[in-house]
Amino acid sequence: MKKIILAAAATLALASFTASVFAAEEVHIPKEQWSFNGTFGKFDRLQLQRGLQVYKEICASCHSLKYVAFRNLAALGYNEAQIKAFAAEYEYPDIDDEGSDTKRKGLPSDYFPNPYPNEKFARASSNGALPPDLSLISKAREGGPDYLFHLITGYEDPPAGMTVMDGMSYNKYFSSGNFQIAMVKQIEDDKVTYADGTKATTDQIARDVTAFLHWAAEPMLEARHSTGLRVMLYMIVFTLLAYFLKRRIWARLDK
Ligand code: HEC
Repeated sequence: MKKIILAAAATLALASFTASVFAAEEVHIPKEQWSFNGTFGKFDRLQLQRGLQVYKEICASCHSLKYVAFRNLAALGYNEAQIKAFAAEYEYPDIDDEGSDTKRKGLPSDYFPNPYPNEKFARASSNGALPPDLSLISKAREGGPDYLFHLITGYEDPPAGMTVMDGMSYNKYFSSGNFQIAMVKQIEDDKVTYADGTKATTDQIARDVTAFLHWAAEPMLEARHSTGLRVMLYMIVFTLLAYFLKRRIWARLDK
């Protein structure tokens, strides 16, 4: 009996210990309003275009976007000529007719290039950390777009008594790295000049790039929402039919 009580006490103690460890790590990520939330949620094309501009002008110097091809940008409302022009801004390794290494201009079928030639170079340029590919990041992190938005705007002075390592920044949402991140603050007011004239506040820039990254991670979101809706409608109609059929069949037997 004693043994059982001891074992139970030990389990309880362990459970509360692990709970407290997790509690310490848990960060509250405030929920944000996104046009793509909810059953009827849709992407805002103009916002995605602004987000692409932010990615290209700020994030692309460190982060790849390897699952997004230029032709995918048609979903943002760009036409073929615009996509060709986007692609042509980048260069890709190629081999010429003599068999020597050369470069060619990007094509709509190319994917966004990696800013670094290899991982070691990327780490050496980033205080030892690897800037992750951003194609799926919005799906890969708990909190998704809410987390991304708060992470990129969550830079502040470290709390008293905390020493931040050289080259690192304090970020209250980066719990996976003990609140010290190897990415310095990237977004400030007017860091970009929007092609569509929108005022580029820190909040706006962060929201736009987050929406764009969410589209990159889930380009079929709108199709998923409308299929979901059609399936629900079908189920409702089917349930009603089944109900009336049941009533008709049982009407005879009830008499
Ligand atoms: C100067 C290089 C640089 C630029 C520019 C940059 N980042 Fe980063 N980013 C990094 C590095 C390095 C890391 C890895 C940080 C770490 O692990 O400590 C990182 C990590 C991240 C992460 C992952 C955080 C996590 O949970 O692991 C996200 C998301 C991110 N960056 C988004 C962005 C966005 C969006 C932009 C553009 C607005 C951007 N970054 C611009 C260097 C950069």
